[in-house]
Amino acid sequence: MWLDCDVGHDDAMALILAASSPHLKLLGVSSVYGNSSVENTTANAIRVIQAAGIKGVKVYKGAAKPLVKNRVYASDIHGSSGLDGTDLLPDPDMSTYLAQDENAVNAMHRTIMASPEPVSLAAVGPLTNIALLLSIYPEVIPRIKTLAIMGGSMGIGNTTSAAEFNIYSDPEAAHIVLHSGISHIALVPLDVTHTVLATKQIIKRIQDEVAVPKFARLITDLLLYFGSTYKDVFGEKEGAPLHDPVAVAYLFMRNVFTERHIRIDIDCNEGHGRGRTFCDVYKKTMEPANCWLVTSVELEPFWNQMFRRQEIANSS
Ligand code: BDR
Ligand code: CA
Repeated sequence: MWLDCDVGHDDAMALILAASSPHLKLLGVSSVYGNSSVENTTANAIRVIQAAGIKGVKVYKGAAKPLVKNRVYASDIHGSSGLDGTDLLPDPDMSTYLAQDENAVNAMHRTIMASPEPVSLAAVGPLTNIALLLSIYPEVIPRIKTLAIMGGSMGIGNTTSAAEFNIYSDPEAAHIVLHSGISHIALVPLDVTHTVLATKQIIKRIQDEVAVPKFARLITDLLLYFGSTYKDVFGEKEGAPLHDPVAVAYLFMRNVFTERHIRIDIDCNEGHGRGRTFCDVYKKTMEPANCWLVTSVELEPFWNQMFRRQEIANSS
């Protein structure tokens, strides 16, 4: 699989899950602006790779801004670096982990075309890189096995009253991706990720079960910071929703998800609804389905997989 991300507290957990799961082989990581600038999200991806002891995975820098409109950053949630809240992250070793001569889109194209088997993608930031990939290199489309997207919402919006952050950041890109003809696109929306809370009990479990104390402290720092900003900004008292790893988990444990195959369209208009995901559950548009909308995930199997990450830090 390939991970496209804007690291980010929950992106960091998605990266750790993607690299540690024995069910996945992480081929590469691409960065995109989003939670912070693309310079910061690229550096953050590298810092997490180093801290987790992930070997053999490079980071490819992607888009610095959306296709059409202005970008927004989520510094109220993730801090000005995109990954505030700990002093345990190393300085990024750019010369080892950043691909110097290849951008995110070209790297995804090369990797997908060279793979003997179809490749799955998890996209957990704004969809700009993926839209560019599909527009410049449409030959990848039949070679993509599954594209799991963290984004959108059936109900609540977290950036406007109508829209979720990743889709709101680049609705035009989301429109291109959802209408690209990729045979299996899954959308993991806020309605589902808000059931996956990093509660006090979950954080305690990390402290008890992760064998490397420094790594456990790092994860704890990040989740506590994320929880505190969610409390300040959204009044969420139980803990932060761990959005992005849920999309990664979909790629290898689809059996613990419920979903429906429906039509989803993006509001690309100016105005109150910009970035909204129209989920046509009752087939009102009469348009063909283009997406699997995830409607729930079983929490215990998900958390059991998340905790496998300790194996990575152990091996570093
Ligand atoms: C999404 O927005 C970002 O802040 C998170 O990393 C996640 O991908 C949730 O709306
Ligand atoms: Ca993200």
